[in-house]
Amino acid sequence: MSERNSDIYEPPAAVVAAAHVSGRAAYDRLVAEAETDYEGYWARLAREFISWHKPFTEGLDASDAPFFKWFADGTLNVSYNCLDRHVEAGQGEKTALIFEADDGQITRVNYRELLARTCRLANALRAQGVRKGNRVVIYMPMGIEGVMAMQACARIGATHSVVFGGFSAQSLRDRIEDAGAVLVLTADEQLRGGKRLPLKAIVDQALALGGCESVRSVIVYQRTGGAVDWQPHDHWLHELSAAQPTTCEPEWVEAEHPLFLLYTSGSTGKPKGVQHSSGGYLLHAALTTKWTFDLKPDDVFWCTADIGWVTGHSYVTYGPLALGATEVVFEGVPTYPDAGRFWEVIQRHGVTVFYTAPTAIRSLIKAVEGQPQTHPRHYDLTSLRILGTVGEPINPAAWRWYHEQVGGSRCPVIDTFWQTETGGHIITPLPGATTLVPGSCTLPFPGIIAAVVDESGKELPHGHGGILVVKKPWPSMIRNIWGDPERFKKSYYPDEFNGQYYLAGDGAVRDATTGYFTITGRIDDVLNISGHRMGTMEIESALVSCTELVAEAAVVGRPDETTGEAICAFVVLKQGRPEGDDAKAIASRLREWVAKEIGPIAKPRDIRFADNLPKTRSGKIMRRLLRSVARNEPVTQDISTLENPAILEQLGQAY
Ligand code: WTA
Repeated sequence: MSERNSDIYEPPAAVVAAAHVSGRAAYDRLVAEAETDYEGYWARLAREFISWHKPFTEGLDASDAPFFKWFADGTLNVSYNCLDRHVEAGQGEKTALIFEADDGQITRVNYRELLARTCRLANALRAQGVRKGNRVVIYMPMGIEGVMAMQACARIGATHSVVFGGFSAQSLRDRIEDAGAVLVLTADEQLRGGKRLPLKAIVDQALALGGCESVRSVIVYQRTGGAVDWQPHDHWLHELSAAQPTTCEPEWVEAEHPLFLLYTSGSTGKPKGVQHSSGGYLLHAALTTKWTFDLKPDDVFWCTADIGWVTGHSYVTYGPLALGATEVVFEGVPTYPDAGRFWEVIQRHGVTVFYTAPTAIRSLIKAVEGQPQTHPRHYDLTSLRILGTVGEPINPAAWRWYHEQVGGSRCPVIDTFWQTETGGHIITPLPGATTLVPGSCTLPFPGIIAAVVDESGKELPHGHGGILVVKKPWPSMIRNIWGDPERFKKSYYPDEFNGQYYLAGDGAVRDATTGYFTITGRIDDVLNISGHRMGTMEIESALVSCTELVAEAAVVGRPDETTGEAICAFVVLKQGRPEGDDAKAIASRLREWVAKEIGPIAKPRDIRFADNLPKTRSGKIMRRLLRSVARNEPVTQDISTLENPAILEQLGQAY
């Protein structure tokens, strides 16, 4: 990031005065408490934030490191913590979800109703034979039913795996097979930006691809009433639920019981099933929702993330509900019916805490140019108190626009750094305690011991860029990669650090004076497209699986003003290098192919053809060189080993 970011923003006095963590000294005290008695600190919070069925007596169990356990002899139920306990405390009439559909229709659900409907669905799942420990895949749109589906799984101890509705049949199939799911929850169609997109039909295709024999039934939520092809194993959600009682005894599970798997991209061609716990995960989801967003009982919280991503897990389904909060759940997209939709939703529902992605902010800044009436100044956004961002670095210019134009210069902008694997925020400002610097995610959340180290694991002095690690296991961390403990160890607790540190996969640098962290980007082959993780290897394997056309492919990222990074693919075709219209036609066929293999989010922005790919003498693709080419930068690498230097010129042309 080349923009200057010398400005700093003190927490507003009014925010400090009322904050859960009030003032820098309060933050420092929490950090000190965690340093002096690490396990005691987390145990204190675990008792405060979670209603345990059987209280735990142990904190951290590191006997099988790096397969850490937390609160292992305690039992709980996550859905009990998110629903029942609020109703029991007299909060049943409080609004839990304000659902705003794509077409603007609004549905409110209070805690009593959400509990009753979740129980019905949970009973229906049990009636379908789903038991504790079984995996259930959820391929549903954003909405009340999606949240309920996750809560219903949690209620009966089934481990859910939500697959984002933009993933293809092939991707869905791979996840169903890897998880060994016994049941799939889906909808007839989803509505986004005024368009109907099939979901059930994609589930049908996924199951028809084979390898999903573990699936015994499919439950379909009727969202649009669109036509569906009915299979013998299909059931309507409303029919199954209607037949069930509105109470359902929760399954009390051990703290380490896997609440969910969530597939995410890594540096191989195969996505990994990140496995999370119940107790430790819920603790951090609830705790960070409260402290990072300084959430109070009368707030109206809105996290725009889809339940298909980890942000939608921690900050839509679990964190806010564990706190008994009121939140907006939004089905649509930021630009429909126009680019003022977010501001309209905030105005309509009096949103006080708003959490979104830098890509969305950047695209709305851009959209204002063509649609000046969508500028935030045309909306009443005075309800806002706190603004948050997540998923990728936020450039200082977008940060300032968000702060000034959306937050009226009154609301702290909280740049939260975390990952699917971390379960919740790990480096983030706290609104009433942290002085903000645009472009920096500032300091570790109290209890997270983060550091910047060199390749041998030695801590680097501030001011020196290096590798981001977490030095101690924390309650909400990833527990395993589903079915692949070896890959878990290698990816996150590598030998280079003697298996001692959690390796985040990002680079970071700390400010010489403040110690603030700035994330410098992934250190592996993972790209971040509009805040969505995508492995270059996954896209490469999708391309080469088009065996009719493709001989070889390499994928790299290049910076993009709006989406953060853009996917750039270098392809060698079996037929030789195409030109002109032929090249354009093949490029568009390959884009569609990738969309079919992975999903539309993985479509390469640029496709470049060459007779072969630039390789080192030992046959390794020269990715650094390809990165320069993708950025249209002059090539500075040594190319004397290139067999065919003419390909550099060929690679210059993008389709
Ligand atoms: C990136 C999303 C800079 C980072 C919650 C990380 C960020 C990856 C930030 C995880 C941030 C996330 N600043 N980079 N505030 N937040 N990232 O698993 O590269 O989808 O490793 O989790 O997003 O993406 P994931």
